[in-house]
Amino acid sequence: MTREYEGKNGMMLIDGIAATDIAEEFGTPVYVTEEKRVRENYRRIHEAFSRYMNTEVHYACKANTNLSVLRILEQEGSCIDAVSIGEVHSCLRAGFTPDRILYTGVNVSNEELKALVDVGCMINIDSESELERLAHISTDVKISVRVTPGVTSGHDVRVMTGGRGSKFGIPIKRTIPVYARAKALGFDIKGIHAHTGSGGEGIEQFTEVAEVLSDLANDIREEVGIDLDFIDIGGGVGVPYKLQEEETDVEELASLVTEIILEETDVKTVLLEPGRYIVADSTVLLTRCVDIKNAGTKKYIGVDAGFNTLIRPSFYDSYHMVATANKFNKACTDKYDIVGPICESGDYLAHNRVMPNPEEGDLVAVFNAGAYGFSMSSEYNSRPRCAEVLVSNGKACLTRKAESMEDLWRNQIIPEGLRK
Ligand code: LLP
Repeated sequence: MTREYEGKNGMMLIDGIAATDIAEEFGTPVYVTEEKRVRENYRRIHEAFSRYMNTEVHYACKANTNLSVLRILEQEGSCIDAVSIGEVHSCLRAGFTPDRILYTGVNVSNEELKALVDVGCMINIDSESELERLAHISTDVKISVRVTPGVTSGHDVRVMTGGRGSKFGIPIKRTIPVYARAKALGFDIKGIHAHTGSGGEGIEQFTEVAEVLSDLANDIREEVGIDLDFIDIGGGVGVPYKLQEEETDVEELASLVTEIILEETDVKTVLLEPGRYIVADSTVLLTRCVDIKNAGTKKYIGVDAGFNTLIRPSFYDSYHMVATANKFNKACTDKYDIVGPICESGDYLAHNRVMPNPEEGDLVAVFNAGAYGFSMSSEYNSRPRCAEVLVSNGKACLTRKAESMEDLWRNQIIPEGLRK
């Protein structure tokens, strides 16, 4: 079941505020995040695991790097999974100390490694090349190692990462030589990590990966003489995007994963890296209906958000539930495609949805937009990125201004000979 929103007099409410009021005040399109939901999601998954063993939840901030969201999670005691130096600095800016950040990059440049060493966060090594290059920069670094577990999951082939032959991680066969080499180089080696993929169903991938990592942790202990502090099972906890889809049972997930680690190893701490689970259902995208078209074989509701604002439907064919926020729970009359202002026929938010009779000026809510929504948005077609709003205790605050026209050309330089 996806989460439900309340309605009052046909108006959708977001933490007690009419979505139409928020759209009126801040303009559209706009991402609206509920503080309460971010906290609830974090607490649910953190509590489930910490009941059994020492737990660090490393929020995968690639899902949503809004500084206010990061502030909320910093207050909750979360740690961070960062994938770029930009994410690392965003998290520092939001008040995270470097010791709460684990950097897991792929194809990491020497410049980025130097910058990470300067920051002082832990680095999760993705390749033998990276290990050697880092050693030339500094060995006074805490590291863990990302392995390719041979277990894969995900809502789309483009986000499956753990299968054999993947571009991510160290092949299992090379794990022992890599730990031995890291030890010989003098690194402070803390853990082992794997990530199977993003947004897959069920929990089997996590128990499988816990088995693989537990076996490896034991081998590393016996063959290399390193006692690892943690096993990191990665991210990828799925969330329901469709009404009838089931929520991931994080209680069961925690119980099964921790049982494997506790029974099979001496490792004391489990790490997990949920991104989507923490923020997806905290946020709706509000977009205004600007145009209605009956194209004979199809009917369209034209809105002011396209794949520049939310790319998941166009890029992964992802399903996001939609509703008309000012005709909430009203009878649906027909099927429509919800489409945006981008000049490509691949630009859509939803296909074939039953909707109440549409009118220009309606407000369409796109649900579960908090993960990989704003963070994947662009200025394509020279449309400035939209605003973000946070609703806390029944009050809406702007957390990111919409970009202006100026922002479109802010960093451009016209060579002198071309100037007017
Ligand atoms: N840890 C690692 C190493 C990852 O690569 C990822 C996601 C995560 C954790 C968090 O995964 P999550 O818990 O959010 O599923 N843009 C795609 C998702 C890409 C995920 C990439 N890595 C989408 O919109 O579905």
